[in-house]
Amino acid sequence: MSRPRPHANANRATRRDFLKTSGALAGAALAANLSIARTAHAAGDDVLKIGLIGCGGRGTGAARNALDADPNTRLVAMGDLFIERIHAKRKFLQTIKPGRVTVDDDHCFAGYDAYQKVIDSGIDVVVLGSVPHYRPRHLAAAVEAGKHVFAEKPVAADAPGVRSVLQSAKKAEAKGLSIVSGLCWRYYPPVVETMQRLADGAIGQITSIQITYLFGLVGQITDRKPGMNEMEYQARNWQYFSWLSGDHICEQHVHSLDKALWAMGDKPPVAAFGSGGRQVPDFGNKPKTGNNYDHFSIVYEYPDEVVVNGHCRQQLNCYKETLDRFAGTAGSCKINQFQSQEIFDPAGKRTWRYRSRKKRGLNMYQLEHEALFKAIRAGKPINNGQYMAYSTMMAILGRMCAYTGQRITWQQAINSQESLKPSKYSFDAVPPVVPDKNGDYKIPIPGLTKFV
Ligand SMILES: NC(=O)c1ccc[n+]([C@@H]2O[C@H](COP(=O)([O-])OP(=O)(O)OC[C@H]3O[C@@H](n4cnc5c(N)ncnc54)[C@H](O)[C@@H]3O)[C@@H](O)[C@H]2O)c1
Repeated sequence: MSRPRPHANANRATRRDFLKTSGALAGAALAANLSIARTAHAAGDDVLKIGLIGCGGRGTGAARNALDADPNTRLVAMGDLFIERIHAKRKFLQTIKPGRVTVDDDHCFAGYDAYQKVIDSGIDVVVLGSVPHYRPRHLAAAVEAGKHVFAEKPVAADAPGVRSVLQSAKKAEAKGLSIVSGLCWRYYPPVVETMQRLADGAIGQITSIQITYLFGLVGQITDRKPGMNEMEYQARNWQYFSWLSGDHICEQHVHSLDKALWAMGDKPPVAAFGSGGRQVPDFGNKPKTGNNYDHFSIVYEYPDEVVVNGHCRQQLNCYKETLDRFAGTAGSCKINQFQSQEIFDPAGKRTWRYRSRKKRGLNMYQLEHEALFKAIRAGKPINNGQYMAYSTMMAILGRMCAYTGQRITWQQAINSQESLKPSKYSFDAVPPVVPDKNGDYKIPIPGLTKFV
């Protein structure tokens, strides 16, 4: 099983050392390192320059984590669709990280091509914090330009996007670049230790996994303002449009699916089937928002009758739960987010639970960046590309099954030609879903909606 190494105690090396180490890589790697070397020459020190793409809540948090992870880092360029977000987040970061945010006005880039301008700003590391639809494009451009990457989850909203991410991951490997994924539970020591125990046979062979992500609404809904075109409206409400978010099974439940994938040795399921829908019209509080479902219940089939049951919901005023339950031939295991990680014998008696005095101090969002910067400094790249692509694909497979009402194999799904793209990347483009004359968005109907 390929695991991140949250405790990896990479020896701290200077920028020169890491350039030397990575400089030993042949061919394509050379191009990547040349761009870093040029930056180093210009900076004349060991500073790693960071660019941020997607200046929302998480992107800004991730930029802060990156600055905290390594004292010799600077944030030098920021990009977003909206300039006011960049300015607000720049001010915030400058306040909390004085002297570390040197983004001048010329390095604040707004619009659909902002990502390329950030990447072309002489940076070493890029934080990809925009919305899932754009991740494959942004990742491909970053790897092409030889940048190390932190990529928030999920990493795509459709199968062509997943395939692109897998290609970028391979390219990054060849170039000696790190890709660290925002699937943060992989960097949370209590869960890492639990997964290690499962891999070591603490509950025998896994026979089934039940994962839940039952939640309220994930994002604030922005009202349509006069003069706001459809692309902007959807961009501001991206959590509610499947082409942007992948639907909430992808945007939220991917964390749980990733833990199931991890426990299954990072092997994808053979097939899946299930159901879902939009039970609460208009998400209960705002009219005509998006085309997402508000619940999914999916069965993922593995060889030998092993199943992963995934159940997620985004509905207001309902029971909430985010739990992972693993059943095995010799016991069971329960992961209750930060609260508890426990293993039980077949009689239900607890045989282990994670205990550490340090538990409260562990910040997985911070640890993933520490791993990234240590890897860069040590010239020992981390590449989370495959599992971040596979867990995203598990979510997309579940969505395909629920939307169509069909049983779909992994091979069919990952080779799907369904590409969720607007007519072009511009505010005057036509998005893949548009409202009808009543302002309603078409919601997929199982049995009628076709698998593509
Ligand atoms: N790992 C975690 O636990 C965690 C937590 C929260 C969010 N996330 C993920 O982080 C991502 C961002 O979520 P958020 O909560 O910060 O959302 P957000 O809406 O606060 O921020 C997204 C930002 O991206 C910008 N953006 C959209 N399209 C863009 C494009 N083409 N180019 C540049 N910028 C673009 C938006 O304008 C916005 O400012 C999502 O994929 C989400 O799933 C992960």
